[in-house]
Amino acid sequence: MNRIPPAPLVRLSLEALDVHINRLRDTMILVLDERGLITNYNACFQRRSGYSRQGLMGCGAEHIFESQSFEQLVVAGYGFRRDPGEDAGTLSSLTLTGADGTRITVTAFVLHAETEAGMQSVLMLRELGEASGPNLLERLGETMLMDEETGVILLRSDSRIMDISQLACQVLNVEAASALEEPVGGFFEQRGREYELIRHTLAEGVPVRNHPFTWLRGDERREMLMDVGLLRGPSGMAEGAYVIFKDVTNLRSLEQQVQRSDRLSMIGQIAAGAAHEIRNPLTAIRGFLQMFRKTMTDKGMVKEAGYTEIMLTELDRINSLVGEFLLLSKPKNILYDHVDVVQVLQDLMPMISSEALLHNVVVDWAVETGAKPVLADREMLKQVFLNICKNGIEAMANGGILTIKGRCAIEEGRPMVTIEVQDTGDGIPEAMLEKIFDPFVTTKPSGTGLGLSVCQRIIHEFGGTIRALNRKEGALFIIALPCI
Ligand SMILES: Nc1ncnc2c1ncn2[C@@H]1O[C@H](COP(=O)(O)OP(=O)(O)OP(=O)(O)O)[C@@H](O)[C@H]1O
Ligand SMILES: [Mg+2]
Repeated sequence: MNRIPPAPLVRLSLEALDVHINRLRDTMILVLDERGLITNYNACFQRRSGYSRQGLMGCGAEHIFESQSFEQLVVAGYGFRRDPGEDAGTLSSLTLTGADGTRITVTAFVLHAETEAGMQSVLMLRELGEASGPNLLERLGETMLMDEETGVILLRSDSRIMDISQLACQVLNVEAASALEEPVGGFFEQRGREYELIRHTLAEGVPVRNHPFTWLRGDERREMLMDVGLLRGPSGMAEGAYVIFKDVTNLRSLEQQVQRSDRLSMIGQIAAGAAHEIRNPLTAIRGFLQMFRKTMTDKGMVKEAGYTEIMLTELDRINSLVGEFLLLSKPKNILYDHVDVVQVLQDLMPMISSEALLHNVVVDWAVETGAKPVLADREMLKQVFLNICKNGIEAMANGGILTIKGRCAIEEGRPMVTIEVQDTGDGIPEAMLEKIFDPFVTTKPSGTGLGLSVCQRIIHEFGGTIRALNRKEGALFIIALPCI
């Protein structure tokens, strides 16, 4: 048998499926479940086949189709195979028997619908000899109207709704049944701007392309694009219009990420440029200060020598800050090595514990040993873990528990070392969650806001990921690094 293209898959509820199949008045439709039992059919099918409702519902397809046709259906996997991507599409010359014994020969076009009652196969049957010209277009229309991912409204030229898909119903917050044949304006009260565009298209014929608007689906904010265009008859006269809503939320967030990383790399470059310029004079100042200190100490000017000491310490602080700026743009001189992440954490433990003790924080250590090594710079990884743990400790002003977990697991087929650091503080303010890895974002009076952006830069450099989440109590940072 020829390989036939896969059947399209749509997702919708049984109720919506019922509405859709009954809306198609001139196409016979039969719905089968995965066992091949008839779960629904439309009026057109009943009319043509002559069966009564009792005779059809729950009846096996083998009782309706002739045995050869039924076999063809089974072989092609219509309705009886789980994977809708295989061997499905269009089957020609199937014969079924009507209630009075007449033989009806049809072509079947199949859609797979994922419903709450499992996969359903929607067989659109067209009798041989029926005009075949517009079929493909009709199928396109049918498929789009049944697809839950696209919102479609078909309008008559007097702006009444001829058909409306489920997603469009959700966006407009209406029931399909109550919207049909009603003027479209009544359903756009909350969307004045969009309605204006539709009206403009109907009146002037000007198409609308990619008009953006947002839609709140429950608590979720969805980014939509709207297209509106006229549908013209053979004479060129407008016979109606279509409105299409496309959900582009994922695309939008990708775009925002790209913009953000562009912005960040620009900040990084500026910071690095400025840092270089600052560092050179600092080196000169440091050298002269050291000279002063020595001279003053030699001359017994103890107080003045002490001042130079303070100046030197402050200079070192500026230097390390400038070092972080440089790291932001590009970590330099990376010493790649096979690093045991658990060992790195263990080496840091004394430092973390003493910092924790100072802040009345208990460290809960649950790191599995025996993880595979990662390819990274040991000192840089230390800097990352110290920064994250320091943030955690600082977030618990009145003491608490800092939990450090480590494990090695296969993720998406790759072995990864995952380190989790959780505190019992107040968590990260929701409004900040998205940007805490941006440089200079801080809520601390003396913070630089560079800690986390440097951490992210370093982890990305080693092919890993770093994420921040809020838990019921406190914040959780998850770092994952690929093992060698
Ligand atoms: N564990 C945490 N709990 C709550 N908020 C956090 C936590 N970690 C980071 N933050 C928030 O993210 C901000 C940015 O952190 P980041 O480490 O980049 O800078 P910082 O800690 O403010 O400054 P610096 O690291 O220079 O001391 C912090 O100011 C804080 O508001
Ligand atoms: Mg910090």
